[in-house]
This record gives sequence, C-alpha cells and structure tokens, in this order.
Amino acid sequence: MTHSFPDNPFLSGPTAPSGIECDAPDLIVEGELPADLQGVYFRNGPDPLHPPREGEEYHWFHGDGMIQRFEFSGGRVSWKNRWVRTEKYELERAAGKSLFGVLGNPMTADPSVAEEHYNTANTHVVWHGNRLMALMEGTIAVELEPETLATIGNFDYHGKIDGPITAHPKLDHGTGEMVFFGNQAKGPFSEFLRMNVADREGNLIKSEMVEAPFPSFAHDFFVTEKYVVFPVYPLVFNLERAMTGGIPMAWEPERGAHLGVMPRNGTAADVQWHSMDPRWSFHMVNAWDEESVIKVDVCASNASRFAPKLDGSMASADEGLTPTLRRWTIDVSGSTNAVGEEMLDDLPCEFPRTDDRYMTRSHRHAYLVGGHDEQLMFNRLIHYDLKTGSRKLWGEDQYLLGEPIFAPRSDTAAEGDGYILILAYDQVTALSQLLIFNAQDIELGPLARAKLPLRIPSGFHGTWVGA
Ligand SMILES: [Fe+2]
Repeated sequence: MTHSFPDNPFLSGPTAPSGIECDAPDLIVEGELPADLQGVYFRNGPDPLHPPREGEEYHWFHGDGMIQRFEFSGGRVSWKNRWVRTEKYELERAAGKSLFGVLGNPMTADPSVAEEHYNTANTHVVWHGNRLMALMEGTIAVELEPETLATIGNFDYHGKIDGPITAHPKLDHGTGEMVFFGNQAKGPFSEFLRMNVADREGNLIKSEMVEAPFPSFAHDFFVTEKYVVFPVYPLVFNLERAMTGGIPMAWEPERGAHLGVMPRNGTAADVQWHSMDPRWSFHMVNAWDEESVIKVDVCASNASRFAPKLDGSMASADEGLTPTLRRWTIDVSGSTNAVGEEMLDDLPCEFPRTDDRYMTRSHRHAYLVGGHDEQLMFNRLIHYDLKTGSRKLWGEDQYLLGEPIFAPRSDTAAEGDGYILILAYDQVTALSQLLIFNAQDIELGPLARAKLPLRIPSGFHGTWVGA
C-alpha cells in the first residue's frame, strides 16, 4: 500500500507528482501549429513515484526523472511521458516504497540499498552521438530509446567515465563535440573537477582532472570555441553540515568566486584562475571568444539562498539574491586575472537559452523566463536581442512558464528564425499547455497552444531535435 505524500511545497501545486505515464497521439491544439515545425521536444523533470521515507523532508531535486516527449509532424503534435528506469526507480517500484534517502543521503536510506547506485536522472535530456541521454549532475548518464522513451541503461562511455557528469554539457555545432565536466570528481567533498570531451560519434576523446581552490557546487560551466571555464562559487561543500543531516553546503562569501580557464586543446596544467566578488549562478546563457577575451552571459546573483552561511543564517535580500542577466569578461592575454562584470538588465531571470547552434559562439538572441524568483516559478517570457539591445516580454499571470526552447525553422534558418516552445501551467484550470511562439515576435503571444488533458509537473531542462 502506498501512503500519501506529505505536506511540502514541492509535492503540491505545479510540482505535485503526476503518478502516471501516458500516450496522447494527437493533442487538441488552439491556434495553428506552423507546418515547418517538424521534430521532437524532449523535457526532463522530477516526478517522484513514492513519498519520501518516514520523517524525511523531500527536496525537489530528489524526484524520479520523467521525460516528456512532444513530436511535431504534419501540423499535429503527439505527447508521451515515461519515467527513466534508473536502478533507484526499479528497486523502489519493486518494493512499493522509497528506499533511498533524500538526495541520496546514506544515513536515511534503507540498508538494502546501501551498495546501490543513486541516480534520479531528472535534470536534463540531451541528444549527442546518436544517443538520447537523461542526466543529473551526481552520476553517469542513462540512455533512452528516442521513439518509445524506453530505458536502454546506464551509459558511461564504455567504462571510461566513473564519476559524476554535469547535467549541462555544451555542444559545439562546429566540431560536433560535446564538452562536459564532473564535480567532486575524486569523490564526495573533493575539490577536483573532471573535464571531458566526446567526439561527434559519442566517443570519449579527452579527460582532464583539474584541482579547484576549494570544493564547491557549480551546476553549469562555460565553453567557447577555444576555452573551457570552470566556475567555483563560494557555495562550499561542507562535510560537517552533511554529518548533521543538513544540506551539505555552506555559503561562504568571504572566499570570493573564481573562474578556472583551460584551453580546449590544453591540459589541466594550463588552467589559469581568475577571481571576482562572491557570485552565484545556476545557469549561463552562452560563452564565446572575442580576440583575447572570453565573454560569458549569465543569470547570476551576488549571494545564494541555496545554503546557510557558516553561522547558520541565510543571506538576506539586500545581499543580492535575485539572479539577473550579466556579462562577465575574462582577459586571457595575461594582463589581469580580475573578472569584469557588466549588468545587462535588472529583471529577475532564469532558465536562459539561445539558438543551440550558436552554443560556444557569439549569439544575438537570448530567451529566458522571469518575474517571480521564489521557488523558480516564473510568469514572464523574455527575449533579448543583444545586437539591437531590445527586450521583448510576454506573460499572463495565470501561466507559470518553464524553460524556453528554441526550434529553428529549418537546419539552415538564420539565428533566431524559428519558434519558442514553453511548457506552461495554467493556475486557473490546473492543466498544462505547450505554448508555441514565433521566436522573432513573442509579444504577439502564442501562435498555438497544445492542450494537455492533465498537469505535467514543473520541471527542468529540455532539448529540441529537429526532424
Ligand atoms: Fe540546470
């Protein structure tokens, strides 16, 4: 018998578990789907199958990964969702209850899973090397069958990756390479980062172990055509806090923020560290080279609410908790190791995306969501045209918006010529809709709304794979 879910902000409202796998062959569409929108939108997010273990506090990042698959073809759209069959999912489904501690905490786990692999596979879903991979940052990828979403199994680059890999790999559409890093690469609480490169076919061709100034939590990183940049924010892994059952990190602003720069054709011995005032960021927009400078557009804040300070207090609003769009510049000529920062806007922002074909290269268009930053729920879509400096907004208060995904009109379409897809939650009807916008004119509102017959829990990241 499965018991009910406890009271928790992430187990109710838009993030409440769905408990269901579905196949909808032909969704009802309001408006008109563009005929040239042909391909599949995959999205990942947490959808816990069972309540947490007795007495444990649930965390949003702990839910079992559920993949949503929307296929656009001939002016119609189908929808399918499937849980990723991780070891955790299979063991807990067989037991009919949670066995793993929240966020993999071994202190609260059932003894039967003490030696088992903790993987939620709930953060991103990425297509590279002819593989669809569900990712979380704590461990290796899980490969999925792209049509059925059936789980094929763990993918560790044929035994070459044995540690965590980021949920935010970078795809270089020029070389076809995927560049990705791993945090805590020499085990929990270690300050080592591993940088990996897979070639166009998905073969691991490079792996470098980099020593950071201290062990910190970084969810994303930066890659240009020439460089890899490892951010080290003062959100510091803290073993003592972990031993007392709290979040295993502390916000230690006095340590500052540091960016480690490594040439993509270099080694760990070539890493140069650049420093700035304390900063925190979940996600960057994009990074690129401009002569002897690396530029990074990033949603960043001056302080983090993700963990308490060493004295147990939380950073306050006047320390700058709200992420806003900034441009960081890193001089690689050797003349300074200070990171420059320019504020591009003061709107709260998150889930930044570009036209993925420009990842690692200078981009013109950026798409983000903003509005409310509490619990990462947003109700404004933002489009920045960085060439003209213009900003366009769309939003209706009743809709909470997920990550905006850009789908080009065709493989050869110009940057920004295409559509924005957003999975939205209608707070009035408590149902979800997939909204489709003209990426050049979001202020017009959605061109089409594909209506879901139920609510898809708010989730994290996704990918467009064109037909
Ligand atoms: Fe993320």
